[in-house]
Amino acid sequence: MNYDLLAQAAEKISHCWPDAKPSTSLICGSGWSSVIESFDVHGTLPFEEIPGFGKAGVVGHAGKVSWASLHGVETFIFQGRRHYYEGEGWTPIAIPIYASKQAGVTNMILTNSAGCMNPDFAPGDLMIITDHINMTATNPLIGPHNEVWGPRFPDQSYVYNPELQNKIKQAAATISLDVKEGIYLVSTGPVYESPAEIRMFRQMGADAVGMSTVPEAILANAGGLTVAGLSCMTNFAAGILDQPLTHEEVTETTRVTMPKMKALLEAFWAELE
Ligand code: HPA
Repeated sequence: MNYDLLAQAAEKISHCWPDAKPSTSLICGSGWSSVIESFDVHGTLPFEEIPGFGKAGVVGHAGKVSWASLHGVETFIFQGRRHYYEGEGWTPIAIPIYASKQAGVTNMILTNSAGCMNPDFAPGDLMIITDHINMTATNPLIGPHNEVWGPRFPDQSYVYNPELQNKIKQAAATISLDVKEGIYLVSTGPVYESPAEIRMFRQMGADAVGMSTVPEAILANAGGLTVAGLSCMTNFAAGILDQPLTHEEVTETTRVTMPKMKALLEAFWAELE
């Protein structure tokens, strides 16, 4: 982790928006970026202009950060994220967390698209992440200890804050939306999983699988932020249907599910007020 770049990135954002007082950050995973249409946007900064961030390299990831508000909740919205499989280490992944913390953010809301393997789930379902399984065989906190991320051995019992989970459930109830709850398993990607891996992951207790979110959740939780995670089920995980997985299927499902994603976030932000 390059702490000089983290500091420069945080400085760039605070210099750009000196009056911003965000309580909340939202990281938009694949297909989630259009939720920004629910917010009043005060300013936007492309990722390329943030030292160390680079640009979000995945189709469906917009690659910019905005200062915005919804229901009076000032929010930094990251449209797109960096992934470990891009091969540039943890610094670009840590920047939104570090810069948000420096700006005074306390709620870190992480979203993603995921393949579902719980037989009660189907594409188009939204899932509150209750816990995770880290199958990346690495960890963003490997390296010299830095007190920004709390103690050397951070507890993982409540990475996904129970109060925020309740607020999402409450929000879903107010709009009569059936929201699932479950365990998100992360692998590094960039390959999708093999059918045999999915069978193993299901036996391990996973409900959904993806290539992101967990490193950010680990960092944000260690940094003292309260974390929530929301997954959009975009496809049945590998081997469940007799057909290959494609990124187009993922983006198409988020496109048709967008009204639900927006409605849930709007109701959730009302609970954050
Ligand atoms: N596997 C991994 N990542 C994903 C998937 C999947 O099936 N769907 C969306 N992101």
